[in-house]
Amino acid sequence: AIDIRNLRADTGLITLDPGYGNTGSCQSAITFIDGEQGILRYRGIPIEQFEQAPNFVEIAWLLIFGHLPSPEEYDTFAADLTGCANLDEGMKHHFEGFPRAAPPMAILSAMINALSCFHPEIFEIQDKDSVRIASAGLISKIRTIAAYAYRHSRGLPYIYPDPKLRYVPNFLHMMFSQPFEQHVCEPIVRDALNLILLLHADHEQNCSTSTVRMVGSSQANLFASCAAGVCALWGPLHGGANVAVLEMLEQIHQGQMTPDDYVRLAKDKDSKVRLMGFGHRVYRNFDPRARMLANVAERLLPQLGVKDPLLDIARRLEEIALEDPYFIDRQLYPNVDFYSGIILRAIGIPVNMFTVMFAIGRLPGWIAHWWEQEQTPGNKIARPRQIYVGPRETDRVLLSERR
Ligand code: ACO
Repeated sequence: AIDIRNLRADTGLITLDPGYGNTGSCQSAITFIDGEQGILRYRGIPIEQFEQAPNFVEIAWLLIFGHLPSPEEYDTFAADLTGCANLDEGMKHHFEGFPRAAPPMAILSAMINALSCFHPEIFEIQDKDSVRIASAGLISKIRTIAAYAYRHSRGLPYIYPDPKLRYVPNFLHMMFSQPFEQHVCEPIVRDALNLILLLHADHEQNCSTSTVRMVGSSQANLFASCAAGVCALWGPLHGGANVAVLEMLEQIHQGQMTPDDYVRLAKDKDSKVRLMGFGHRVYRNFDPRARMLANVAERLLPQLGVKDPLLDIARRLEEIALEDPYFIDRQLYPNVDFYSGIILRAIGIPVNMFTVMFAIGRLPGWIAHWWEQEQTPGNKIARPRQIYVGPRETDRVLLSERR
């Protein structure tokens, strides 16, 4: 901490906390994490209780409105989601403007931001009903945007959402159905995808959620704030890690390195390589989401008749790391990204869509935090301070006199 009382309009002390590891930015009643014990609870409910009959739509309601939906609330919300699934036809022209190889996260962020041009009611959110409608619109449309981004990247025609299908099957339908043919979504796939999405749905003040809150603190609208969240999620140290894990496993599989070699490299600071999908700012124990996803991978792949050598490599890397003093001393365990990619790959989701899947899952959490902040009395614009380390005062030299 340094005393900066000589500066005007200041409260006195600035604590320097790079990465905000020890800085609380808000009070929140949404998600509880105990990183030492490996506990994660949504609105007080342990995450493990959602393993049976996983339902992403129910979790979205829980996070945003603070309680499990009654059957009526659930039906209304599900109907809202179905009703909002289409994009304005005008938005389709935007997709045409992107190159085929455009990163889907760039498209996702741009399109979520563009939604506010087509839905000016977003600037008028004031009460629970308007939040419900805006949330349903965004949670529904992010799935359509994601599927259209994928279809565009493959040069395939867009498939309209089917009002008869539920959230997850409708997404798979828009992604993979041939035109005019209905995709059949196996219950095991539907459950696995629901579980993946809900396990990603919130994780308190992570980088992307803090971004959403920070942008929202300037009273930017919900769509703009969530578009910023997508950008923050994109990086390989955050949501982009699920792609990096697959690339790492592929690299080992291609024979470029053994699992032991890779772990050795990850311990060497000069290599700049990390064991992707390992470590977490908050968990100093197993990430409970990783445990649950490891179990899903073990069950789902045989049920789908998929034999993926990457799963064996992941298991081997985990075994090595969990016995290695480097990882033990630093309390580095598998995180949510370590097994999620293997499951998504088994379902047929292409690797470049993995982080998009994370964004679809995280969206209810972003909305919940944006709304919680909106409702907090006396909420202030987020504006951290810095410790200035540049020259105190120097003189300008005219360009003509500079060498
Ligand atoms: N492989 C090798 N070493 C690691 C790893 C890793 N995956 N993660 C951390 N370390 C080491 C660091 O080098 C550092 O070592 P040192 O003390 O000798 O310098 C120590 O462990 C602490 O690491 P930090 O980077 O200070 O920890 P931080 O809390 O800032 O970072 C993070 C957490 C970004 C998740 C980190 O563990 C990481 O880069 N992991 C790999 C990327 C990843 O999986 N990200 C997804 C995170 S989960 C999510 O966002 C959904």
